[in-house]
Amino acid sequence: MVANLAAAARGQAGQHSWLDTALEQELEKIRAADLYRVRRVICGGHGVTVHVDGRECLNFCSNDYLGLAADPRPAAAAQRVAAAGGVGSGAAALISGYDHEHRALEEALAEFLGRPRVLLFTSGWAANLGVIRALLDRGDTLFADELNHASLIDGGRLSRAAYQRIPHCDVAAFAAALQATAGSTGRRLLVTDGVFSMDGDIADLPALQAATQQHDAALMVDDAHGFCVLGAHGRGSLELLDVAPDVHVATLGKALGAAGAFVSGSETLIEYLIQRARSWVFSTAPPPAIAAAAREALRIVVAEPERRQRLRDNIQRFRAAVTAQGIALGQPEAAGLRGAPTPIQPLVLGASARAMGVSKALFQQGFWVAAIRPPTVPADTARLRITLSAAHEPAQIDALAEALGRALAQYHRS
Ligand SMILES: Cc1ncc(COP(=O)(O)O)c(C=O)c1O
Repeated sequence: MVANLAAAARGQAGQHSWLDTALEQELEKIRAADLYRVRRVICGGHGVTVHVDGRECLNFCSNDYLGLAADPRPAAAAQRVAAAGGVGSGAAALISGYDHEHRALEEALAEFLGRPRVLLFTSGWAANLGVIRALLDRGDTLFADELNHASLIDGGRLSRAAYQRIPHCDVAAFAAALQATAGSTGRRLLVTDGVFSMDGDIADLPALQAATQQHDAALMVDDAHGFCVLGAHGRGSLELLDVAPDVHVATLGKALGAAGAFVSGSETLIEYLIQRARSWVFSTAPPPAIAAAAREALRIVVAEPERRQRLRDNIQRFRAAVTAQGIALGQPEAAGLRGAPTPIQPLVLGASARAMGVSKALFQQGFWVAAIRPPTVPADTARLRITLSAAHEPAQIDALAEALGRALAQYHRS
Protein backbone atom coordinates (compact mmCIF):
# COMPACT_ATOMS: atom_id res chain seq x y z
CA MET A 1 0.00 0.00 0.00
CA VAL A 2 2.72 2.45 1.04
CA ALA A 3 4.83 1.36 -1.94
CA ASN A 4 1.85 1.93 -4.29
CA LEU A 5 1.30 5.44 -2.95
CA ALA A 6 4.98 6.29 -3.37
CA ALA A 7 4.94 4.97 -6.95
CA ALA A 8 1.81 7.02 -7.72
CA ALA A 9 3.43 10.16 -6.30
CA ARG A 10 6.54 9.56 -8.39
CA GLY A 11 4.42 9.05 -11.47
CA GLN A 12 2.57 12.33 -10.96
CA ALA A 13 5.76 14.26 -10.32
CA GLY A 14 7.37 12.62 -13.34
CA GLN A 15 4.72 13.92 -15.76
CA HIS A 16 6.10 16.81 -17.81
CA SER A 17 3.67 19.68 -17.30
CA TRP A 18 3.58 22.93 -19.28
CA LEU A 19 5.18 24.53 -16.22
CA ASP A 20 8.14 22.14 -16.31
CA THR A 21 8.55 22.73 -20.04
CA ALA A 22 8.63 26.51 -19.54
CA LEU A 23 11.03 26.21 -16.63
CA GLU A 24 13.33 23.84 -18.54
CA GLN A 25 13.66 26.48 -21.26
CA GLU A 26 14.61 29.08 -18.66
CA LEU A 27 17.11 26.70 -17.06
CA GLU A 28 18.69 26.07 -20.44
CA LYS A 29 19.23 29.81 -20.88
CA ILE A 30 20.82 30.02 -17.42
CA ARG A 31 23.15 27.11 -18.27
CA ALA A 32 24.10 28.65 -21.61
CA ALA A 33 25.09 31.91 -19.87
CA ASP A 34 27.37 30.08 -17.37
CA LEU A 35 25.03 31.20 -14.60
CA TYR A 36 23.68 27.84 -13.43
CA ARG A 37 23.95 27.41 -9.67
CA VAL A 38 24.46 24.21 -7.74
CA ARG A 39 24.72 23.67 -4.00
CA ARG A 40 27.83 22.10 -2.51
CA VAL A 41 27.32 19.94 0.55
CA ILE A 42 29.40 20.95 3.60
CA CYS A 43 30.04 18.34 6.27
CA GLY A 44 31.86 18.41 9.58
CA GLY A 45 30.91 21.90 10.74
CA HIS A 46 31.44 25.45 9.51
CA GLY A 47 34.91 26.33 10.74
CA VAL A 48 37.91 27.24 8.60
CA THR A 49 38.53 23.62 7.58
CA VAL A 50 35.45 22.24 5.86
CA HIS A 51 34.56 19.16 3.89
CA VAL A 52 32.98 20.18 0.59
CA ASP A 53 31.41 17.31 -1.31
CA GLY A 54 33.63 15.01 0.70
CA ARG A 55 36.89 16.92 0.04
CA GLU A 56 38.75 18.70 2.85
CA CYS A 57 39.57 22.32 2.11
CA LEU A 58 40.09 25.74 3.69
CA ASN A 59 37.06 28.01 3.64
CA PHE A 60 37.71 31.52 2.32
CA CYS A 61 34.15 32.49 1.39
CA SER A 62 32.15 32.38 4.61
CA ASN A 63 30.78 35.43 6.45
CA ASP A 64 31.98 33.95 9.74
CA TYR A 65 34.37 36.89 10.16
CA LEU A 66 35.23 36.31 13.82
CA GLY A 67 35.36 32.50 13.77
CA LEU A 68 32.29 32.12 15.99
CA ALA A 69 30.16 29.82 13.81
CA ALA A 70 32.05 26.73 15.02
CA ASP A 71 32.90 28.03 18.50
CA PRO A 72 31.72 25.49 21.12
CA ARG A 73 30.43 28.14 23.55
CA PRO A 74 27.45 29.45 21.50
CA ALA A 75 26.74 25.83 20.56
CA ALA A 76 26.66 24.88 24.25
CA ALA A 77 24.30 27.79 25.02
CA ALA A 78 21.96 26.60 22.26
CA GLN A 79 22.14 23.02 23.55
CA ARG A 80 21.24 24.10 27.10
CA VAL A 81 18.18 26.05 25.95
CA ALA A 82 17.03 23.37 23.50
CA ALA A 83 17.47 20.64 26.12
CA ALA A 84 15.42 22.62 28.64
CA GLY A 85 12.60 23.83 26.41
CA GLY A 86 12.79 22.18 22.99
CA VAL A 87 13.67 23.65 19.63
CA GLY A 88 10.62 25.42 18.24
CA SER A 89 9.08 28.67 19.44
CA GLY A 90 5.68 27.39 18.33
CA ALA A 91 4.13 30.61 17.04
CA ALA A 92 4.70 34.18 15.95
CA ALA A 93 5.98 36.51 18.68
CA LEU A 94 2.59 38.27 19.02
CA ILE A 95 0.81 34.96 19.60
CA SER A 96 2.83 32.78 21.97
CA GLY A 97 6.31 32.65 20.41
CA TYR A 98 8.10 35.47 22.27
CA ASP A 99 10.52 33.67 24.58
CA HIS A 100 12.55 35.21 27.42
CA GLU A 101 15.65 34.28 25.39
CA HIS A 102 14.41 36.58 22.60
CA ARG A 103 13.89 39.40 25.04
CA ALA A 104 17.29 38.86 26.66
CA LEU A 105 19.00 39.02 23.27
CA GLU A 106 17.10 42.16 22.24
CA GLU A 107 18.13 43.85 25.48
CA ALA A 108 21.76 42.74 25.15
CA LEU A 109 21.95 44.04 21.57
CA ALA A 110 20.38 47.39 22.50
CA GLU A 111 22.84 47.81 25.37
CA PHE A 112 25.82 46.80 23.22
CA LEU A 113 24.89 49.29 20.52
CA GLY A 114 23.71 52.05 22.83
CA ARG A 115 20.46 52.20 20.84
CA PRO A 116 17.06 52.66 22.53
CA ARG A 117 15.47 49.42 21.38
CA VAL A 118 15.90 46.30 19.23
CA LEU A 119 13.49 43.92 17.47
CA LEU A 120 14.56 40.43 16.37
CA PHE A 121 13.67 39.04 12.95
CA THR A 122 14.16 35.52 11.58
CA SER A 123 16.55 36.75 8.87
CA GLY A 124 18.06 39.87 7.37
CA TRP A 125 15.93 39.27 4.32
CA ALA A 126 12.75 39.31 6.42
CA ALA A 127 13.92 42.39 8.33
CA ASN A 128 14.62 44.47 5.23
CA LEU A 129 11.39 43.48 3.51
CA GLY A 130 9.34 44.01 6.64
CA VAL A 131 10.84 47.35 7.60
CA ILE A 132 10.72 49.06 4.21
CA ARG A 133 7.22 47.76 3.48
CA ALA A 134 6.07 49.03 6.88
CA LEU A 135 7.64 52.47 6.55
CA LEU A 136 6.79 53.35 2.95
CA ASP A 137 3.73 53.25 0.73
CA ARG A 138 2.46 54.72 -2.52
CA GLY A 139 3.33 58.43 -2.65
CA ASP A 140 6.57 57.92 -0.69
CA THR A 141 10.08 57.78 -2.15
CA LEU A 142 13.00 55.41 -1.56
CA PHE A 143 16.53 56.55 -2.45
CA ALA A 144 18.72 53.47 -2.80
CA ASP A 145 22.37 52.82 -3.67
CA GLU A 146 22.51 50.74 -6.86
CA LEU A 147 24.65 48.08 -5.15
CA ASN A 148 22.36 47.61 -2.16
CA HIS A 149 21.59 44.07 -1.07
CA ALA A 150 18.78 42.31 -2.97
CA SER A 151 16.55 42.29 0.12
CA LEU A 152 16.62 46.10 0.24
CA ILE A 153 15.72 46.25 -3.44
CA ASP A 154 12.83 43.83 -3.00
CA GLY A 155 11.64 45.67 0.12
CA GLY A 156 11.49 48.84 -1.96
CA ARG A 157 9.51 47.14 -4.72
CA LEU A 158 7.09 45.63 -2.24
CA SER A 159 6.47 49.00 -0.60
CA ARG A 160 5.10 50.54 -3.83
CA ALA A 161 7.05 53.73 -3.10
CA ALA A 162 8.78 55.53 -5.98
CA TYR A 163 12.24 53.95 -6.34
CA GLN A 164 15.23 56.18 -7.07
CA ARG A 165 18.32 54.11 -7.89
CA ILE A 166 21.41 56.18 -7.10
CA PRO A 167 24.90 55.49 -8.54
CA HIS A 168 27.12 53.56 -6.13
CA CYS A 169 28.35 55.65 -3.19
CA ASP A 170 27.59 58.89 -5.04
CA VAL A 171 26.84 61.21 -2.15
CA ALA A 172 26.29 64.21 -4.45
CA ALA A 173 23.69 62.25 -6.45
CA PHE A 174 21.88 61.27 -3.23
CA ALA A 175 21.84 64.91 -2.11
CA ALA A 176 20.64 66.10 -5.52
CA ALA A 177 17.81 63.52 -5.54
CA LEU A 178 16.73 64.62 -2.06
CA GLN A 179 16.89 68.25 -3.10
CA ALA A 180 14.83 67.57 -6.23
CA THR A 181 12.01 66.00 -4.21
CA ALA A 182 12.11 68.59 -1.41
CA GLY A 183 8.51 69.67 -1.97
CA SER A 184 7.00 66.18 -1.90
CA THR A 185 4.48 65.38 0.79
CA GLY A 186 5.31 61.69 1.09
CA ARG A 187 7.89 60.09 3.36
CA ARG A 188 11.43 59.89 2.03
CA LEU A 189 13.81 57.13 3.09
CA LEU A 190 17.44 56.82 2.03
CA VAL A 191 18.65 53.23 2.31
CA THR A 192 22.18 51.89 1.99
CA ASP A 193 24.35 48.96 2.94
CA GLY A 194 26.93 49.99 5.57
CA VAL A 195 29.52 47.60 4.13
CA PHE A 196 28.61 46.52 0.60
CA SER A 197 28.27 42.76 0.57
CA MET A 198 29.95 41.96 -2.75
CA ASP A 199 32.52 44.79 -2.90
CA GLY A 200 33.47 45.25 0.75
CA ASP A 201 33.56 49.05 0.52
CA ILE A 202 31.92 51.27 3.11
CA ALA A 203 29.19 53.86 2.51
CA ASP A 204 29.99 57.45 3.42
CA LEU A 205 27.44 57.39 6.22
CA PRO A 206 28.33 60.77 7.79
CA ALA A 207 27.66 62.53 4.47
CA LEU A 208 24.44 60.55 3.91
CA GLN A 209 23.26 61.30 7.44
CA ALA A 210 23.93 65.01 6.94
CA ALA A 211 22.03 64.97 3.64
CA THR A 212 18.98 63.24 5.13
CA GLN A 213 18.94 65.59 8.12
CA GLN A 214 19.21 68.62 5.87
CA HIS A 215 16.32 67.44 3.68
CA ASP A 216 13.99 66.01 6.33
CA ALA A 217 14.41 62.46 5.09
CA ALA A 218 15.16 59.34 7.14
CA LEU A 219 18.30 57.17 6.90
CA MET A 220 18.27 53.35 6.99
CA VAL A 221 21.57 51.42 7.15
CA ASP A 222 21.90 47.66 6.63
CA ASP A 223 25.14 46.84 8.44
CA ALA A 224 25.04 43.07 8.01
CA HIS A 225 28.77 42.96 7.19
CA GLY A 226 30.02 45.70 9.52
CA PHE A 227 28.30 44.60 12.74
CA CYS A 228 30.79 43.15 15.26
CA VAL A 229 33.61 43.71 12.75
CA LEU A 230 34.13 47.49 12.47
CA GLY A 231 34.56 50.12 15.17
CA ALA A 232 36.71 50.13 18.30
CA HIS A 233 34.18 47.95 20.15
CA GLY A 234 32.70 46.14 17.16
CA ARG A 235 29.51 48.17 16.97
CA GLY A 236 29.99 48.33 13.24
CA SER A 237 29.83 51.11 10.68
CA LEU A 238 27.78 53.18 13.13
CA GLU A 239 30.67 53.24 15.59
CA LEU A 240 33.44 53.53 12.99
CA LEU A 241 31.80 56.51 11.34
CA ASP A 242 30.03 57.92 14.40
CA VAL A 243 26.51 57.99 12.97
CA ALA A 244 23.07 57.22 14.39
CA PRO A 245 20.72 56.31 11.52
CA ASP A 246 16.97 56.35 12.08
CA VAL A 247 16.81 52.68 11.15
CA HIS A 248 19.64 50.19 11.61
CA VAL A 249 19.51 46.56 10.50
CA ALA A 250 22.17 43.95 11.18
CA THR A 251 22.27 40.18 10.96
CA LEU A 252 23.21 37.50 13.47
CA GLY A 253 24.32 34.93 10.89
CA LYS A 254 27.56 36.57 9.85
CA ALA A 255 30.15 37.81 12.41
CA LEU A 256 28.04 36.43 15.28
CA GLY A 257 28.01 32.99 13.68
CA ALA A 258 24.35 32.27 14.52
CA ALA A 259 21.24 33.09 12.44
CA GLY A 260 18.58 35.77 12.24
CA ALA A 261 18.68 39.56 12.26
CA PHE A 262 17.48 42.61 14.14
CA VAL A 263 16.41 46.19 13.70
CA SER A 264 17.55 48.87 16.13
CA GLY A 265 16.07 52.33 16.52
CA SER A 266 13.82 54.48 18.64
CA GLU A 267 11.09 53.14 20.95
CA THR A 268 8.55 54.55 18.52
CA LEU A 269 10.10 52.85 15.49
CA ILE A 270 10.16 49.46 17.18
CA GLU A 271 6.57 49.79 18.48
CA TYR A 272 5.48 50.74 14.97
CA LEU A 273 7.24 47.72 13.44
CA ILE A 274 5.57 45.44 16.00
CA GLN A 275 2.22 46.66 14.65
CA ARG A 276 3.06 46.87 10.96
CA ALA A 277 6.08 44.80 9.82
CA ARG A 278 4.28 41.94 8.09
CA SER A 279 7.33 39.66 7.78
CA TRP A 280 7.61 39.88 11.57
CA VAL A 281 3.93 39.82 12.56
CA PHE A 282 3.04 36.83 10.40
CA SER A 283 6.13 34.68 10.90
CA THR A 284 7.04 32.11 13.56
CA ALA A 285 9.53 33.52 16.07
CA PRO A 286 13.08 32.15 15.71
CA PRO A 287 14.14 29.19 17.87
CA PRO A 288 14.98 30.44 21.39
CA ALA A 289 18.14 28.28 21.31
CA ILE A 290 19.46 30.35 18.40
CA ALA A 291 18.80 33.55 20.37
CA ALA A 292 20.79 32.05 23.26
CA ALA A 293 23.64 31.17 20.90
CA ALA A 294 23.69 34.69 19.45
CA ARG A 295 23.71 36.23 22.95
CA GLU A 296 26.66 34.04 23.95
CA ALA A 297 28.46 35.03 20.73
CA LEU A 298 27.84 38.70 21.54
CA ARG A 299 29.33 38.15 25.01
CA ILE A 300 32.44 36.69 23.33
CA VAL A 301 32.68 39.65 20.94
CA VAL A 302 32.78 41.99 23.95
CA ALA A 303 35.12 39.82 26.03
CA GLU A 304 37.59 39.00 23.24
CA PRO A 305 38.40 42.16 21.28
CA GLU A 306 41.60 40.45 20.11
CA ARG A 307 39.45 38.58 17.56
CA ARG A 308 38.86 41.84 15.69
CA GLN A 309 42.56 42.66 15.84
CA ARG A 310 43.40 39.20 14.43
CA LEU A 311 40.90 39.76 11.66
CA ARG A 312 42.45 43.14 10.81
CA ASP A 313 45.92 41.56 10.79
CA ASN A 314 44.68 38.77 8.51
CA ILE A 315 43.10 41.23 6.06
CA GLN A 316 46.34 43.24 5.87
CA ARG A 317 48.42 40.09 5.47
CA PHE A 318 46.24 38.82 2.65
CA ARG A 319 46.21 42.15 0.83
CA ALA A 320 49.99 42.46 1.10
CA ALA A 321 50.61 38.87 -0.06
CA VAL A 322 48.30 39.19 -3.07
CA THR A 323 49.47 42.65 -4.07
CA ALA A 324 53.08 41.42 -3.93
CA GLN A 325 52.14 39.00 -6.73
CA GLY A 326 50.79 41.81 -8.86
CA ILE A 327 47.15 40.75 -8.37
CA ALA A 328 44.77 43.71 -8.08
CA LEU A 329 41.97 43.36 -5.53
CA GLY A 330 38.67 45.14 -6.11
CA GLN A 331 38.49 47.03 -2.86
CA PRO A 332 40.45 50.23 -3.40
CA GLU A 333 42.44 51.55 -0.46
CA ALA A 334 40.28 54.66 -0.46
CA ALA A 335 37.16 52.57 0.08
CA GLY A 336 38.35 51.61 3.53
CA LEU A 337 36.91 54.75 5.07
CA ARG A 338 38.91 55.90 8.08
CA GLY A 339 41.58 53.28 7.33
CA ALA A 340 39.30 50.30 7.85
CA PRO A 341 39.59 47.64 5.16
CA THR A 342 36.83 45.09 5.49
CA PRO A 343 36.99 41.26 5.42
CA ILE A 344 35.35 41.20 1.97
CA GLN A 345 38.16 41.26 -0.59
CA PRO A 346 36.78 40.81 -4.10
CA LEU A 347 38.87 39.76 -7.06
CA VAL A 348 36.82 40.88 -10.06
CA LEU A 349 37.43 38.58 -13.05
CA GLY A 350 34.74 39.72 -15.51
CA ALA A 351 33.23 36.77 -17.37
CA SER A 352 31.34 34.19 -15.35
CA ALA A 353 33.21 31.30 -17.00
CA ARG A 354 36.52 32.84 -15.91
CA ALA A 355 35.40 33.26 -12.29
CA MET A 356 34.14 29.66 -12.27
CA GLY A 357 37.40 28.43 -13.77
CA VAL A 358 39.61 30.16 -11.19
CA SER A 359 37.33 29.03 -8.35
CA LYS A 360 37.63 25.43 -9.60
CA ALA A 361 41.41 25.68 -9.89
CA LEU A 362 41.55 26.90 -6.28
CA PHE A 363 39.28 24.08 -5.14
CA GLN A 364 41.64 21.58 -6.71
CA GLN A 365 44.38 23.08 -4.53
CA GLY A 366 42.25 22.77 -1.39
CA PHE A 367 40.75 26.28 -1.14
CA TRP A 368 37.03 26.92 -1.13
CA VAL A 369 36.26 30.34 -2.69
CA ALA A 370 32.89 30.42 -4.41
CA ALA A 371 32.53 32.38 -7.66
CA ILE A 372 29.92 35.14 -7.51
CA ARG A 373 28.11 35.77 -10.78
CA PRO A 374 25.28 37.97 -12.09
CA PRO A 375 22.61 38.74 -11.07
CA THR A 376 24.23 38.77 -7.62
CA VAL A 377 26.77 41.23 -9.09
CA PRO A 378 26.43 43.46 -12.19
CA ALA A 379 26.98 42.00 -15.66
CA ASP A 380 30.62 41.32 -16.59
CA THR A 381 31.83 41.70 -13.01
CA ALA A 382 31.82 38.05 -11.93
CA ARG A 383 34.32 37.64 -9.15
CA LEU A 384 35.84 35.66 -6.39
CA ARG A 385 34.49 37.10 -3.17
CA ILE A 386 37.35 36.21 -0.86
CA THR A 387 36.56 36.68 2.80
CA LEU A 388 38.93 36.66 5.74
CA SER A 389 38.24 35.46 9.25
CA ALA A 390 39.94 35.87 12.60
CA ALA A 391 40.11 32.07 12.64
CA HIS A 392 42.47 31.84 9.64
CA GLU A 393 46.10 31.07 10.47
CA PRO A 394 48.73 33.32 8.84
CA ALA A 395 50.21 30.31 7.01
CA GLN A 396 46.78 29.51 5.52
CA ILE A 397 46.48 33.05 4.22
CA ASP A 398 49.94 32.93 2.64
CA ALA A 399 49.05 29.58 1.07
CA LEU A 400 45.84 31.01 -0.40
CA ALA A 401 47.71 33.96 -1.92
CA GLU A 402 50.19 31.57 -3.57
CA ALA A 403 47.42 29.27 -4.77
CA LEU A 404 45.60 32.26 -6.23
CA GLY A 405 48.68 33.18 -8.28
CA ARG A 406 48.89 29.61 -9.57
CA ALA A 407 45.14 29.40 -10.27
CA LEU A 408 45.13 32.63 -12.25
CA ALA A 409 48.15 31.49 -14.29
CA GLN A 410 46.65 28.03 -14.84
CA TYR A 411 43.35 29.44 -15.96
CA HIS A 412 44.97 31.82 -18.40
CA ARG A 413 46.88 28.90 -19.93
CA SER A 414 43.83 26.65 -20.34
C1 LIG B 1 23.80 43.32 3.29
C2 LIG B 1 22.93 42.14 3.57
N1 LIG B 1 21.70 42.34 4.09
C3 LIG B 1 20.87 41.32 4.35
C4 LIG B 1 21.24 40.02 4.10
C5 LIG B 1 20.27 38.92 4.38
O1 LIG B 1 20.50 38.42 5.65
P1 LIG B 1 20.03 36.94 6.02
O2 LIG B 1 21.05 36.01 5.44
O3 LIG B 1 19.99 36.91 7.50
O4 LIG B 1 18.69 36.75 5.38
C6 LIG B 1 22.52 39.76 3.57
C7 LIG B 1 23.01 38.40 3.27
O5 LIG B 1 22.73 37.39 3.71
C8 LIG B 1 23.38 40.84 3.30
O6 LIG B 1 24.58 40.64 2.76
